[in-house]
Amino acid sequence: MLNINQCLQQIFGEAISTAYPGLENAPLTVTLNQQAKFGDYQCNSAMPMAQMMKAKGQKVSPREIAEKIVQNIPNNELIERTEIAGPGFINVHLKRMFVSKLLSNLLVNGVQPPSLKKKKKVVVDFSSPNIAKEMHVGHLRSTIIGDSMCRLFEFLGNEVLRLNHVGDWGTQFGMLIAHLQDKFPNYLSVSPPIGDLQAFYKASKKRFDEDEEFKKRAYQCVVKLQSKEPDFIKAWNLICDVSRNEFQKVYNCLDIRIEERGESYYQDMMTVVVKEFEEKGLVQLDEGRKIVFAPGQSIPLTIVKSDGGYTYDTSDLAAIKNRLFDEKADIIIYVTDSGQVTFLFILRIICIDVDDQITKCFQC
Ligand code: ARG
Repeated sequence: MLNINQCLQQIFGEAISTAYPGLENAPLTVTLNQQAKFGDYQCNSAMPMAQMMKAKGQKVSPREIAEKIVQNIPNNELIERTEIAGPGFINVHLKRMFVSKLLSNLLVNGVQPPSLKKKKKVVVDFSSPNIAKEMHVGHLRSTIIGDSMCRLFEFLGNEVLRLNHVGDWGTQFGMLIAHLQDKFPNYLSVSPPIGDLQAFYKASKKRFDEDEEFKKRAYQCVVKLQSKEPDFIKAWNLICDVSRNEFQKVYNCLDIRIEERGESYYQDMMTVVVKEFEEKGLVQLDEGRKIVFAPGQSIPLTIVKSDGGYTYDTSDLAAIKNRLFDEKADIIIYVTDSGQVTFLFILRIICIDVDDQITKCFQC
């Protein structure tokens, strides 16, 4: 499909360079006219050009420049007429026939994507709420923006992988499972009434904050879950399902398709990533934690906690590796709230540093 603004930029660019061949990097501004009575588009280059020339000791009025530009407009099928207004604005009226042809084409064929040079594999990480916690407005915003980006990439003909990197492997599960064990000891045979997961979460968090013994046990539970003990996996599955159903209601309303690949999906890959960082001598110990500094960064990533558990950092590192090397992504996009910016920036540095050969586009 033809882009009128681009065509006009080309026409005026040519007119300017023919009119003033000696003026390097002449500013080229073509905009849609806000008020239809002044024409359809406007070229506002004459004023900044006059300033440029003044700086070089040539005093020419913007109106004079505008006139010279107009005289040099090349033959084209778009422009009906131009007029110079005010200090040197060039108003552009388009040919009605030309516009009506464009519009009928749009009506008959719909909006057509520009032709794609090379189909790309695009991974979009969006939505990504946390299990057992409520999806908040930040997640909703990410869901809507992320899905819109996916639709656009697909419309352009790319292959898109939509990923929901849900928080499903962290400390909150230790608290929840420890609480579940106390309050519903028969949870392995009977489905516990945790329909109101928020209330359940709040109660377990209260105990976690107030009771040292409970806290210790909660941490042990996370480690047992992360080492995949069957009873813990069963409790974890119960909890995840309740949350998943809640999230799905929102996705159904918004007509969102997304593949869940939460932190737990990367469990085995996390072990490998930690080992690789260790073998490369990049890991430092900090009060029992294993941390990694990205080149030039003062904030480290925690890849193993002092109790041996993994963090969101670890799963994100495993995920990026998987997305680059297994999924063979050309473009990876994270749609998160600004709270994650520092972290994603570090991740980007690590990713580029992992292998100089990586020329993938990784956008935060
Ligand atoms: N679950 C995280 C949160 O709610 C967002 C995760 C964003 N995606 C990622 N790959 N880190 O804050």
